[in-house]
Amino acid sequence: MIQSKYAIKTNKVEKSAIDRVDWDNLPFGKVFSDHMLVMDYENGEWSSPEIVPFEDMKLHPATSAIHYGQSIFEGLKAYRTNTGEIAIFRHDMNAKRFKESCQRMCMAELPEGLFEYCVEQIVDMDRDWIPQKEGYSLYIRPFMFATDDFIGIKPSDKYRFMIFTCPVGAYYSEPLNVKIEEKYTRAAEGGVGRAKTAGNYAASLYPAKLGKDKGFHQLVWTDAKTHKFIEESGTMNIMFVIDGKLITPSEDTDTILPGITKRSVIELAKDWGMPVEERKVEVEEIIKAAKDGTLTEVFGAGTAATIAQIKMIGYREEQFDLPPVGERKFSNKVYHYLDAIKFGTEEDKYGWVKKI
Ligand code: PLP
Ligand code: COI
Repeated sequence: MIQSKYAIKTNKVEKSAIDRVDWDNLPFGKVFSDHMLVMDYENGEWSSPEIVPFEDMKLHPATSAIHYGQSIFEGLKAYRTNTGEIAIFRHDMNAKRFKESCQRMCMAELPEGLFEYCVEQIVDMDRDWIPQKEGYSLYIRPFMFATDDFIGIKPSDKYRFMIFTCPVGAYYSEPLNVKIEEKYTRAAEGGVGRAKTAGNYAASLYPAKLGKDKGFHQLVWTDAKTHKFIEESGTMNIMFVIDGKLITPSEDTDTILPGITKRSVIELAKDWGMPVEERKVEVEEIIKAAKDGTLTEVFGAGTAATIAQIKMIGYREEQFDLPPVGERKFSNKVYHYLDAIKFGTEEDKYGWVKKI
């Protein structure tokens, strides 16, 4: 059993910082709960996880993650239900994706079940930090990085796995303007686009900054070879409703993060009888549909982003305004339905929620 083999050691804060939180003004990712979980890998074995006060860390200057980027992370959320219980959304899926990221980045894997166990333990420890407010939740950030103090290039022999949590509101506070990016690339086939690894985000910053300078909140990445096919956006997968069908780029190319929110949206759409197509999505098809009015909804799907409405698409020198957000039947329904499952007002008939 994970619990007996990896019994958690706990060192609680002397005084909680919770009284200092301005719950009416929670910027995303800037407020940190009292504790963090830390676990080290050395000599082929994981230590038992420790929950300790949230604090700065000391690192060797040659820490290999800093130099060569063996660094991966996850993002998931816990919610306070209407009856006061704590619900974690689909953490088994994050565990699976984390394992895939470990494999691609040549990093030590966690034993089966340990990721989920650690998530549950840290959430339980700081359960008071989970906001009780519509649209608010506890963002959970598990991550792992190489800790060898060695400057040669090789997979590290040592790793640190950690989790901290942040009470959060919305990541995006308004519908988004996005730009279809044709020059820069997020991920190429055979690369690491499918892994949730730090460098993917670093590589996106400069092109995203150029987009921001022109008034775009986010970019929509296209394939590295031809820039003709849509991939995903910076912090979320992208989904379209055209002629009543839900359409989204397939993950076959290994260049797209296999999003858990997107997967949930697809499963709901299928259950509700909506046709779903996961396939190559040509930029031209989207532009044509935007022009002839068959493109009725465009939205991003992600843990931080939730269901993020896209109100305008920029393509080359043109801008395409999309139908008003209030008229978007599917994405509004799916947004509310997902929230209802998480907050416990709708039965969790898919078994997506783990109560702790
Ligand atoms: N794509 C990228 C690049 C992301 O960073 C995220 C967020 O995690 C997603 C997609 C959406 O994935 P998920 O729904 O699992 O959060
Ligand atoms: C998430 O949704 O968890 C993300 O990773 C997006 C972003 C905060 C990096």
